[in-house]
Amino acid sequence: MSFRDDVLAGLGARPRAIPARWFYDRTGSELFELITELPEYYPTRAETAILEAAADEVAALVGPGRAVIEFGSGASTKTRVLLRRVRPPVYVPIDISGDFLREAARGLAGEFPGVEVVPFEADFTMAMTLPDVVADSPKLGFFPGSTIGNLEPAGAVDLLRAMRGSLGEGAMLLIGMDRVKDAGVLTAAYDDAAGVTARFNLNLLERINRELDGDLAVDAFRHLARWNAGAARIEMHLEAVRDVGFTVAGKAFGMAAGETIHTENSHKYTDDAARLLLRAGGWEPVAEWTDPDALFAVLLAEARVVRPAP
Ligand code: TRP
Repeated sequence: MSFRDDVLAGLGARPRAIPARWFYDRTGSELFELITELPEYYPTRAETAILEAAADEVAALVGPGRAVIEFGSGASTKTRVLLRRVRPPVYVPIDISGDFLREAARGLAGEFPGVEVVPFEADFTMAMTLPDVVADSPKLGFFPGSTIGNLEPAGAVDLLRAMRGSLGEGAMLLIGMDRVKDAGVLTAAYDDAAGVTARFNLNLLERINRELDGDLAVDAFRHLARWNAGAARIEMHLEAVRDVGFTVAGKAFGMAAGETIHTENSHKYTDDAARLLLRAGGWEPVAEWTDPDALFAVLLAEARVVRPAP
């Protein structure tokens, strides 16, 4: 669905919700890079540290000659740690934010002259055919950032299966998954003191105003991050702080004070849940690593040939 269709449908639905992929216009992608540097936002640091410590082991387990395909590459920071050790013949970063993707890809290509960098602009949550250059190579999927957690479990399983399909038999997947932990640590990571995550969330309203001829009063909303223990996820919402009316693409909407637009989920996993999710998606875990504080986990899995169960 287009941005317009998703926004109009999402504002009309109850509960109101807009898919998180629409956060990532240019400003959203830049704000997200700032989030990854916040003191409260531990996932990026923890995952980078894990990758640094585990990269040699990963390289040994995946073997030489695999093309690396990264899903939702953003600024490709963690990729550098991986590429330095794995040295793939080809690296395909996939991202929905095209300009941002191409810039990041140019930077990487300069730093890794031995690696052919082939940026691919796509929404990786949908089925896709990878570029021809990697059609016949064995592949290592790279899916860091606990982006898998931004999908509901059923959607996460669908995505893992789709990745298995697009990466092919014998492929491997290196995936980052954030862990269940103290609720205070979790909510702080999604509601930082400097208000960057709030700006990131509220940028969605500004994007609606810019691109969909909207007239939302951004100051009528506030950023809300809460831990939903039952669903094991952080939820982000935009909450109306007063009764507010607005139009988007010619359609009128009204929200009462306290009503929210649900904009993001970030699911967290226990060890067992992480492995079960991978298996449900057709990936057999072969190794896993965590940081010294056990905040985050990186798992390596393999697309095993499915044999009939006994
Ligand atoms: N997948 C990451 C996470 O859930 C990154 C992310 C997606 C994020 N949307 C976000 C981080 C919004 C902060 C706010 O943590």
